[in-house]
Amino acid sequence: QAALPVTPGQTPIEKQVFTEQVVDQFAHARPEGEVDPKPIHSVPARLLDPAQCPTPHITSMEQYRTMYDQSLNDPDTFWGNMARDLLHWSRPFTQITNGTFEDGDVSWFADGELNASVNCLDRHAQRHPDRIAIIHEADEPGQARSYTYKELLLEVCRVANLLISFGLRKGNTVAIYMPMIPQAAIAMLACARIGCIHSVVFAGFSADSLAERILDANSAVVITADEGRRGGRVIPTKRIVDDALKKCPNVKRVLTFAHTGATGIPFNPTRDVWWHEVVSRQRPYCAPVPVNAEDPLFLLYTSGSTGKPKGVVHSTGGYLLGVAATVKYVFDAHDGDIFGCTADVGWITGHSYLVYGPLSLGITTVFFESVPTYPDASRYWKMVEDHKITQFYTAPTAIRALRRLGDDWVNQCDLSSLRVIGSVGEPINPEAWNWYNEVVGHGRCAVVDTYWQTETGANVITPLPGCTRTKPGSATFPFFGIEVAILDAHTGQELEGPDVTGVLALKRPWPAMARTIAGDHPRYLTTYMHPYRGYYFSGDGATRDADGYIWIRGRVDDVINVSGHRLSTSEIESALVLYPAVAEAAVVGAHDDVTGQSICAFVTLKPQAKVDDTIQLTRDLVLQVRKIIGPFASPKAIMIVDDLPKTRSGKIIRRILRKVVAGEADSLGDLSTVSEPAVVQTLVKMVNEKL
Ligand code: PRX
Repeated sequence: QAALPVTPGQTPIEKQVFTEQVVDQFAHARPEGEVDPKPIHSVPARLLDPAQCPTPHITSMEQYRTMYDQSLNDPDTFWGNMARDLLHWSRPFTQITNGTFEDGDVSWFADGELNASVNCLDRHAQRHPDRIAIIHEADEPGQARSYTYKELLLEVCRVANLLISFGLRKGNTVAIYMPMIPQAAIAMLACARIGCIHSVVFAGFSADSLAERILDANSAVVITADEGRRGGRVIPTKRIVDDALKKCPNVKRVLTFAHTGATGIPFNPTRDVWWHEVVSRQRPYCAPVPVNAEDPLFLLYTSGSTGKPKGVVHSTGGYLLGVAATVKYVFDAHDGDIFGCTADVGWITGHSYLVYGPLSLGITTVFFESVPTYPDASRYWKMVEDHKITQFYTAPTAIRALRRLGDDWVNQCDLSSLRVIGSVGEPINPEAWNWYNEVVGHGRCAVVDTYWQTETGANVITPLPGCTRTKPGSATFPFFGIEVAILDAHTGQELEGPDVTGVLALKRPWPAMARTIAGDHPRYLTTYMHPYRGYYFSGDGATRDADGYIWIRGRVDDVINVSGHRLSTSEIESALVLYPAVAEAAVVGAHDDVTGQSICAFVTLKPQAKVDDTIQLTRDLVLQVRKIIGPFASPKAIMIVDDLPKTRSGKIIRRILRKVVAGEADSLGDLSTVSEPAVVQTLVKMVNEKL
């Protein structure tokens, strides 16, 4: 496995920009010396006391190491046993793992067959039909509703039968655009039951983005709701779907769940059906369609370096195993646990840790429809108290925002049910980590900072509650089967030993890894497998410290992370340049104390553009981004400038823009490649005035 440094896009100029950016990003990510050399938090004694907590599945580092070593040295035995133990197979597998990153033909359990909905529903409904599968914590407090495993199974079967009556068959794709209600999970599991591939689109995406995703996946059916609710606001979900469908003549059916029951919802009688009118007429038994372990369970769009979103495809067997194994070991799930993951179902965290992970283990999952500050900042903690949540999983942005509002909101609630509190989506700064640990966890819970991605399917670098001594801000050690490598960004050489910083790569296939990009396998290979041959390239930078702990330093490509939402800078730039007056746009991430990063856009105008009111123009540009991508992609700052720093060949030098917005104009480095150095001075002056 010699590392041949082949860069994304494989052209010298891209290599130059890429590596320049890597070095630049590292300089930003975490000041030198801030990496804490010693593990400072032991496993809370309470977790290891059988009188207080169920005994963790892993209770010592020796046990972790033994299992980890086996997962690498004898993956067939390790994963074969795990797959038989955690999942139900309608046809047992005889093969475990095949294929390589290089060839892009990885498969797991290739001759096995299973059905994801059977694993998430039937086997639990048989054993404990009345156990709660889903608690819906509605937008308005006090209106929670729950569904037992039996109820969920019956409703999933009804919806599955309806989908069959629409003509859907194994391998067809169904788009799901829904608020945070249990019907989203029902829709996903109904697809899985009949072998259809779901494509959930986050309901914060605009009509344009939804249309693009429906067309890319060729979804002929859309499942949605009349309206969504968030923090007391109403979101016109069905109206957005109707807008999107103007561009999607391929969509033949729209199934709409009446969530708010509002009147006047647009309805097209030849295409649309109401859930409450048609689902209850279906038989509540639907024979599950067994699928091959490698058949896709879902695709999920995510942003990358280039403009067009990628439909990341996940397998059924390997994916389900990855999420079940991580809920068991990373969140130390035990029978009767109540898993509170606040992520939206439209992102990978929602797929893996709201739906498939908890339900595959037969525990209870909580769908949180609201926002952390509605009606006040104790909302999360009241929810923990009311439902006796045992595992709580949220994003650093929420932790930082709630920390600012003070401890009283937390202290008024009884959080004694919590055992594991998790963080995901962005690097968590030590201050936020400490607050989470002390104020939310009272020092009695394990804090798991879980590093992973849409493409990894499940947690890949993370502490384990019963054994890992944690350092605030470090995702610590690899999960089973994950072999981490830190590579020199320029040469692709593996950096061995402690105290090294480079790009984070994974060295061998793991069960839950994404298998392809829908309709574009070459892009899968160029994005992940070709930058460093023989490795999966994560797009993140990382440090391994003197104790072997891994610290994630953030993206090294053109992806920015705002409140844990992953956005492509070029996608935002493309939206901005569609505005008639705009000539060029360059987007960079700026540091933000709450959201991690915020979007900062620089635009130049066409010479003939007549703009009298620049304030109005910036508002229009924000609207433009909201319309083309969605509200969560709104730039925080837009600067209209006369010119942008460019190389002599005309390429925008984003490195300079990043430095300028970071207030580091005094260390811009080598400006000899800038064609008009005066442009930089003008920019610095302008940014100083505005930011
Ligand atoms: O940069 C890393 C960051 O989020 C990216 C993946 O985003 P997405 O595919 O949307 O999935 C988010 C939920 C898994 C990564 O490339 N990231 C995720 N978790 C962490 C993180 N950065 C630091 N620490 C984490 N725990």
